[in-house]
Amino acid sequence: MITLTDCSRRFHDKKKVVKAVRDVSLTIQKGEVVGILGENGAGKTTMLRMIAALLEPSQGAIKVAGFDTVKQPAEVKKRIGVLFGGETGLYDRMTAKENLQYFGRLYGLNRHEIKARIEDLSKRFGMRDYMNRRVGGFSKGMRQKVAIARALIHDPDIILFDEPTTGLDITSSNIFREFIQQLKREQKTILFSSHIMEEVQALCDSVIMIHSGEVIYRGALESLYESERSEDLNYIFMSKLVRGIS
Ligand SMILES: Nc1ncnc2c1ncn2[C@@H]1O[C@H](COP(=O)(O)OP(=O)(O)OP(=O)(O)O)[C@@H](O)[C@H]1O
Ligand SMILES: [Mg+2]
Repeated sequence: MITLTDCSRRFHDKKKVVKAVRDVSLTIQKGEVVGILGENGAGKTTMLRMIAALLEPSQGAIKVAGFDTVKQPAEVKKRIGVLFGGETGLYDRMTAKENLQYFGRLYGLNRHEIKARIEDLSKRFGMRDYMNRRVGGFSKGMRQKVAIARALIHDPDIILFDEPTTGLDITSSNIFREFIQQLKREQKTILFSSHIMEEVQALCDSVIMIHSGEVIYRGALESLYESERSEDLNYIFMSKLVRGIS
């Protein structure tokens, strides 16, 4: 469903070259829920942006549902929902509903589809009370929920979230987690980065661990627990970083 082949991304920062992602090859199957773990600056956001066709790899190639992210970015974007930490992409002057309607139209949904989708999402996220209020006055968590709904408005098969629960309170995080479980039952492919190990442990089938742009582990959580003889993901992650090996 998603394949990265010898994928690298460099950034030119003044005279220095930053290698944000180095020679990554991996596959993510349809219906898989994958967590991306890595320290600040490890390359998580860069990897997600490349998969979302928002950033081109400097080397290598990425295919999403059979489409190349550089040659066929529109086909890729149609099939995925993305939400990047911090940038909600919402318009402050519009209400929550107007924002969702706007993004629904951008994805080519008709009025009936938009209405049904908004009803479903606002119910699931407990946003009904403030759908007709302007986003400009929303708290961080309220915004985040609308942003998650926005990312899912076109009912995409693939969902990429960059630190989705950052800034959410426990109730909203739980709603989000339940929502991921629902999406999983619907056979959606979900890839998200997180610094919250319990969240990854509770939701994911497998993980990608990155360190300085390199993948140091890619595989099922179960096999990781077995090989490390521990189910403490925090401990496993830290010990892998220290060893710096896969
Ligand atoms: N547009 C850019 N210009 C220059 N350097 C960049 C750019 N985007 C990312 N980088 C660099 O690439 C590296 C990886 O950054 P990235 O944002 O992917 O990390 P991250 O794993 O998402 O970190 P965090 O947990 O802090 O969000 C960092 O060294 C960062 O400074
Ligand atoms: Mg990041």
